[in-house]
Amino acid sequence: MSDEFEPKAAPNFAEGLYLAPMVRASTLPMRITATQLGATACFTDVIIDQKLMKSKRQVRNNGTPYPIVEYIVHDSSGNPNTAFQTCALEGPVICQIGSANDVYATSAVTKVDRDVSAFDLNCGCNVSFSTKGDMGVNRMFDLESTSAVLKAMVRATNKPVTVKTRLYHEIDPDNVGQRRDLEFLAMAEQAGVKAITIHARYPKDSRSAAVHWERLRLIRESANIPVIANGGLMTEDDITACQDASGCTSFMLARGAFSGISMFHRAPVDGIDFLAKLYDASVLCNVSMKNAKYNLNFGFKGRKALVPTEKRVALQLCKSFDEIGAVLNFGSAADVARRYSSDMETKRSNDSD
Ligand SMILES: Cc1cc2nc3c(=O)[nH]c(=O)nc-3n(C[C@H](O)[C@H](O)[C@H](O)COP(=O)(O)O)c2cc1C
Repeated sequence: MSDEFEPKAAPNFAEGLYLAPMVRASTLPMRITATQLGATACFTDVIIDQKLMKSKRQVRNNGTPYPIVEYIVHDSSGNPNTAFQTCALEGPVICQIGSANDVYATSAVTKVDRDVSAFDLNCGCNVSFSTKGDMGVNRMFDLESTSAVLKAMVRATNKPVTVKTRLYHEIDPDNVGQRRDLEFLAMAEQAGVKAITIHARYPKDSRSAAVHWERLRLIRESANIPVIANGGLMTEDDITACQDASGCTSFMLARGAFSGISMFHRAPVDGIDFLAKLYDASVLCNVSMKNAKYNLNFGFKGRKALVPTEKRVALQLCKSFDEIGAVLNFGSAADVARRYSSDMETKRSNDSD
């Protein structure tokens, strides 16, 4: 069997539930888990343009039926660092890029084009690692160069390009904020963008700040492209309330994707089952212990009754997947590989029937 596979086609973004880009968290295991639970498509964590440009593509055969395509970059001490990973278990994947430079953005898109379903430009991240490079929310305040970056991305690929941004602050009674929202939208549409995600908070807001879903309504009604609502969607009721306030039919889940029920499934999924899926996917992708523990810990939030404190403490001491599997009763790494190998055999025989 060939180690190569085609990325899935991107959705049209007009409806659905999307896994948000989240640094460290929206890595391959979480994207696979969200896909298995029904996510329409998943965004990657933000990947800085120059990191992708410097990376080298390789295909790693894990000893499971799912070889991992990965883009590796070495830090100044020569240590390998994964810029992007994907495999055949992945659903539609939107590669989010951090860029403030049209030439770099072009190179980054060209580099990974064959392995992703679509691209997104991050215009909403307000942490210093983005803003110091004039990326993230800073892109909201320089529409001319943001347009140049988006146009460069659109030129560099035949796949859809999307953008994720925030609401402009309402700074006076003349609705300056709303006018600027519409100017950003027009800029994105003119650049050829196929969908816009709006995190319904202001540029300087923290994640605990109030969300303003009602502000999305005017943007959605003015838009010729789908508007994906994001921010504060932690429960099913939040999605309904956001839909009522904004009229949006596409929703992006960030912290809610790790919550006690499966937000993608739109039906309760046992919390332990979610963690077991995340563990399996982490083993299959052979991610670093650091990433596996980070994601499992994220999943523990809201499941305190299901995962006692001593198990959470024990997890921190684990040095291998076998140890994690023993602490959480999920089986060894070899058990996971066997399970997925037999799944693959069943799929192959069904396909040939
Ligand atoms: C751990 C974490 C990492 C994040 N990293 C990114 C990122 O890489 N790119 C991005 O556009 N937003 C990032 N965000 C913001 C989320 O995509 C989302 O806009 C924000 O959390 C609001 O959604 P929520 O209220 O549902 O969590 C991150 C959020 C979290 C919690």
